[in-house]
Amino acid sequence: MTGSKTDISNADAPLHVELGARSYDIVIGQGLIADAGGRIGALMTGSRAVIVTDDNVGPLYLPRLQESLSAAAIQHASITVPAGEKTKDFNHLQKLTDELLAARIDRSTLLIALGGGVIGDLAGFAAAITMRGIDFVQVPTTLLAQVDSSVGGKTGINSARGKNLIGAFHQPRLVLADLECLDSLPRRQLLAGYAEIIKYGLINDPQFFDWLEINGGAVTDGDKAAQHHAVLTSCAAKAAIVAADERESGVRALLNLGHTFGHALEAETGYDGTLLHGEAVAMGMTLAYDFSQTLGLCSGRDCERVRSHLNAIGLPTKLGDLAAASSTAGWTADALITHMALDKKAENGKMVFVLARAIGDCFINRDVSIDQLRAFLTNALTEKN
Ligand code: GLY
Repeated sequence: MTGSKTDISNADAPLHVELGARSYDIVIGQGLIADAGGRIGALMTGSRAVIVTDDNVGPLYLPRLQESLSAAAIQHASITVPAGEKTKDFNHLQKLTDELLAARIDRSTLLIALGGGVIGDLAGFAAAITMRGIDFVQVPTTLLAQVDSSVGGKTGINSARGKNLIGAFHQPRLVLADLECLDSLPRRQLLAGYAEIIKYGLINDPQFFDWLEINGGAVTDGDKAAQHHAVLTSCAAKAAIVAADERESGVRALLNLGHTFGHALEAETGYDGTLLHGEAVAMGMTLAYDFSQTLGLCSGRDCERVRSHLNAIGLPTKLGDLAAASSTAGWTADALITHMALDKKAENGKMVFVLARAIGDCFINRDVSIDQLRAFLTNALTEKN
C-alpha cells in the first residue's frame, strides 16, 4: 500500500527507533504474542522474565505469552493488577515494585508489559526505578497503546494533581504490536485509538490523512492489511519524532496535537469514564483546528475535513456528542483554561498549543492570547448542542 510520506517501503521489516545505545525495534504483525519468546530471548542478558498484565488482558493473552516464553527456555513469573486508569497510582506502583522484589528479580531480569496504556506506563515506570532500572519490553494490546503510548519511552503514573505527572523516560528494548489483539477490543476503545492515528496525518503527513479518509473504515472494521498500514505508518512517524527529540524539548511536542484541549476536557469530567483519552484527543484536535481557523491560520475547509472524518469514523467532535453530554452543563471557559494552565505541557506559566496551518501542517505555539482563547471556548461551549 502507498499513501504516506514516511519511509515504510519494506512493510515486513521491523521499524527501528534510532536512539543510540537506547535504540530498539517495533515489530507489527499477527501472531506476535504466540511467537514472542524467540524475539524476547534474543535480547535478554539473563534467563528470567516477569510479565505484568491486568485482569482483563491476562485471561486473553497471558497463557499464549507464557507458552511462548517457556518454549524459548525463558523462566517467567507473572503479576496481574486490576484493569483501569485507577491502577496508575502510587499505591499500585508500590505494590508492583514490592512484588517484583519478592519475586527475587535481579538486574538481568526482563519485565514484559502485556496490556494497554495503563500497563505500559505503570510497568515501564516500575522497570525504570526498580534496582535503578531494568530492561522491559512492551506488548501493547490496544490500538492506542500500539500507535502511541508503547513507543517513545514515556512511563509514569497519575497524581491527585493530574495525569502522568510522576514518571520517567525509560525506553523499552522492543515493542511487539500484535494486530490480533485488536479483534478483542471493544469498538469504543478501538475508535479511541484511531484518534491517535489521525493525529499523525494531521501533524505532518497529508497523504496519510487522504489515505485514512478512504481506508479508515477498513481499519476500524478489522481489515488486517489496512490496520497494518495504519499502525506501521503511525509508529514510523512517532519513531522519527522520538529519534529527533527523545525528551520533548522541541518537535516531540507536536505529538500533543489535541492534547492541551483534550486534557482539559478529561480533567473537567473528573476522569469518570464519560470521555476516553482518545475521544478527548478527537475533540481536542477539532478544537485545535477550529481555534486555528479563528486565529486566521487555517481554512474552514480543512476544519470541516477533520470534523467530517472523525464523525464518519464515529468519534466525537463537539461537547454535545458526549454520551453524558448533560454533565457538561456547568462547564466554563475559565475552568477549562485553568486545567490547561496546570497541564504539565505548560512552560513558565505559558500554555503550549499545537495549532494548524492546514491538514498535515501543524506547529507549536507558546503565545496564545488568553482573551482569544476564552472567547473561542465560550463560543464552543455555547454551540455544544
Ligand atoms: N504521547 C505523546 C508522546 O509520547 O510524546
